[in-house]
Amino acid sequence: MTDNKAAVITGANRGIGLELARHYAREGWNVIGVCRQTSDELSGVAAKVIDNIDVTTDSGISKLKNELAGQTIDLLINNAGLLQDEKLGSIDFDSIRTQMEINAYAPLRVAEALVSQIPSGGLITPEESAKGLAARIEGLSLENTGSFWHSNGEELPW
Ligand SMILES: NC(=O)c1ccc[n+]([C@@H]2O[C@H](COP(=O)([O-])OP(=O)(O)OC[C@H]3O[C@@H](n4cnc5c(N)ncnc54)[C@H](OP(=O)(O)O)[C@@H]3O)[C@@H](O)[C@H]2O)c1
Repeated sequence: MTDNKAAVITGANRGIGLELARHYAREGWNVIGVCRQTSDELSGVAAKVIDNIDVTTDSGISKLKNELAGQTIDLLINNAGLLQDEKLGSIDFDSIRTQMEINAYAPLRVAEALVSQIPSGGLITPEESAKGLAARIEGLSLENTGSFWHSNGEELPW
């Protein structure tokens, strides 16, 4: 159990965000679900729901910051996202621009707004980092190459 730890999850009303909310609630986290419009499922699982947040807008980010004022954030999951299939030869650049706004810029906007509430820590020295990276490189084989690893040995989700 990780009582009192707060997880802020964007796009938490459905899909993977909702499942992440369920997962962390089961693990004892204080789940704060962020969404444009809540769902019964999210309202049933989250300790707090912050709705009416479009992560691409100044007003959405400002409201999010206000609603989370004073809240320590132990885990921030920038899950809100959009996938529209675009193929070379027929790319719709308005669609690409929209996807970049949601998938690339919005996570930075959210992180920028909330960074002062996310405890630092976890910083390690260059020596520790290099030692960990070397251990990961030496542990690679044909079976696990192409995967993503933290220097501390944790496999990173993809
Ligand atoms: N499903 C996969 O296999 C897969 C694979 C790799 C990565 N991902 C990524 O994982 C994330 C979640 O995937 P998913 O399958 O759960 O997607 P999903 O079912 O389409 O859900 C997307 C979530 O993002 C929210 N969202 C979209 N635009 C937003 C905006 N401008 N402001 C605030 N919220 C916004 C949606 O809110 P609304 O309900 O209001 O639309 C919804 O909650 C996405 O970033 C996706 O690209 C998914």
